[in-house]
Amino acid sequence: MKPTVYVTRNDYARIGLDLLKEECELTIWDEPSPVPREEFMKNVAGKDAIFCSLNDRIDKELLDQAGPSLKVIGTISVGFDHIDLKQCRERGIRVGYTPEVLTDATAELTIALLLATARRLLEANKEAHTGGWKSWSPMWMCGTSIKNSVVGIVGFGRIGQEIAKRLVPFKPAQIQFCSRSDKCLTAEELGVTQIPFDELVETSDFIIVACSYNMETANMFNDSVFSRMRPSTILINTSRGGIIDQHDLIHALKAGKIRAAGLDVTTPEPLPLDNPLLHMSNVVVLPHIGSADVETRTEMSRITACNIISGLKGVKMISEI
Ligand code: NAP
Ligand code: GLV
Repeated sequence: MKPTVYVTRNDYARIGLDLLKEECELTIWDEPSPVPREEFMKNVAGKDAIFCSLNDRIDKELLDQAGPSLKVIGTISVGFDHIDLKQCRERGIRVGYTPEVLTDATAELTIALLLATARRLLEANKEAHTGGWKSWSPMWMCGTSIKNSVVGIVGFGRIGQEIAKRLVPFKPAQIQFCSRSDKCLTAEELGVTQIPFDELVETSDFIIVACSYNMETANMFNDSVFSRMRPSTILINTSRGGIIDQHDLIHALKAGKIRAAGLDVTTPEPLPLDNPLLHMSNVVVLPHIGSADVETRTEMSRITACNIISGLKGVKMISEI
């Protein structure tokens, strides 16, 4: 008998689903949207594996419902904060994920978001469409450039380092970062400087959040941190919404404690249409598209399927947490 896999939506790139179909019996939530929790709970019982995304919360309750047959989880993401890893370890469930393949796409999107926010691209585009563009005007729609600025990166893992490399041609005065562990060798190699978080928030013109979401980074950016930032600082987050206390961010933006924000990730996702962040001209919100280029998302689907198949066969996965 073929192993059984629960797939949490029907629009993962074809290649992954086709690979899985060759070796496994699939039950697919037949909608191009995240499976509702109740449906997930009902259908996961007795399955050998799960193909999921960051939308799907894999917690104790769900693992209990899946039961002892569950051997493998494959998430089509590098972030794994939606999965209770401790519970998985205790139950001997292997977890595959998709690091590296999305690093370049996410770093590139981070630079795009930084430029869009700093140079006010969306605001300017709106003016062009709505008649605000009367003539070329010397000081109209002026933003701020990366050149000669100090850029601080919070979290210097795969994506953080690729962001740093892409910043160099923009000629910032300095690129600095903070991380959990000592990365002085990488820093030296890239010509960047490791400093403590407190120093970074006080001295950076741009702050880019690129760390993982965990107990230490949850609400890392809060009122007390915003109060220490420069009024000219621009904050960019392509990591996870929960790293920023959004209520405090809104207050900081309204009070002029920081200049602007560019957010690819928010809490919740999607952001309700009446959320103040969607109505501020100095905020650029994107719908979590960091890794969203066709090649990357296609390869993520293939890797997720391969991880699941390898996990079920008890052999090495492409990427296992
Ligand atoms: P990674 O290589 O594991 O890097 C994460 C970095 O975060 C690590 O270097 C880690 O430091 C650092 N970190 C963890 N806790 C920290 C803390 N308390 N203070 C400072 N740094 C801390 O992962 P990655 O591949 O770069 O991905 C990073 C995150 O980006 C993912 O976890 C995910 O949430 C997010 N992401 C978002 C998108 C999107 O679509 N917007 C796409 C991909 C990824 P150490 O090295 O010292 O452990
Ligand atoms: C996207 O946010 C990911 O973690 O892959």
